[in-house]
Amino acid sequence: RLGALEVHWELDSTSSELQRRLVDAADLSMVLAETQTAGRGRRGRSWLSPPGLNLYLSCLKRFDRGFAALSGLSLAVGTMVLRAIDSLGIEGAGLKWPNDVLAGGGKLAGVLVELSGEYQGPCAAVIGVGLNLRLTEALREQAGQPACDLATLATEMPERNLVAARLIAALVEGLREFERHGFAPFAQDYARHDLLAGRQLKLSGAQGHVEGVGAGVDARGALQVRLANGELRSIDSADVTVRRA
Ligand code: BTN
Repeated sequence: RLGALEVHWELDSTSSELQRRLVDAADLSMVLAETQTAGRGRRGRSWLSPPGLNLYLSCLKRFDRGFAALSGLSLAVGTMVLRAIDSLGIEGAGLKWPNDVLAGGGKLAGVLVELSGEYQGPCAAVIGVGLNLRLTEALREQAGQPACDLATLATEMPERNLVAARLIAALVEGLREFERHGFAPFAQDYARHDLLAGRQLKLSGAQGHVEGVGAGVDARGALQVRLANGELRSIDSADVTVRRA
């Protein structure tokens, strides 16, 4: 069965819609909504989703190897979003590990990856992408964090449907690639857009507090940080703050 593309006018959340149909929906099913009444961000935050401006898209990807093998998936998805933006000839966007797509110091797109299933058996990822095309002043104020949109970066703003099509194509192709080869084929693209490389970073997470200089990511997508004593530390998950120079 092939994954369908569904376009809704309004949903609570495109990711919640796919979660409700996790058992039945075919691999690579896509759900797009013009507006969301309960758009979700990471860490329980909400994602403002007014109609007519931005893109709200979720995709279901099934994996048979278990989520032990999925490290680097959200980083790869960020890279896929960047590939879509690049393909439109729009420059100036970058990636902040683990899954922020930023431009001009503000958030251009948000990626929410939710895994369910088994650690070493069949599992599924619901991948939600919110891409800002055009932000209003009111939306910027409500966002609670600096935000950016494609209209600011583009010399000529592409058709909204073209942006959606490129995003869908980048996800379909990229997720198939990730299924076969993991994060490795994305490493080069990631490195070209790595906003943390060479920056002084402060990290806090399960591995405690760490300070050091961003040194890219490894083949699994773990962040590499060069500590003051020269040691290279691999970080699987953490909150990262860039220290001002
Ligand atoms: C983040 O916090 O950065 C992630 C935001 C993800 C938002 C998208 S919009 C489409 C999909 N549906 C949701 O409810 N959330 C994601």
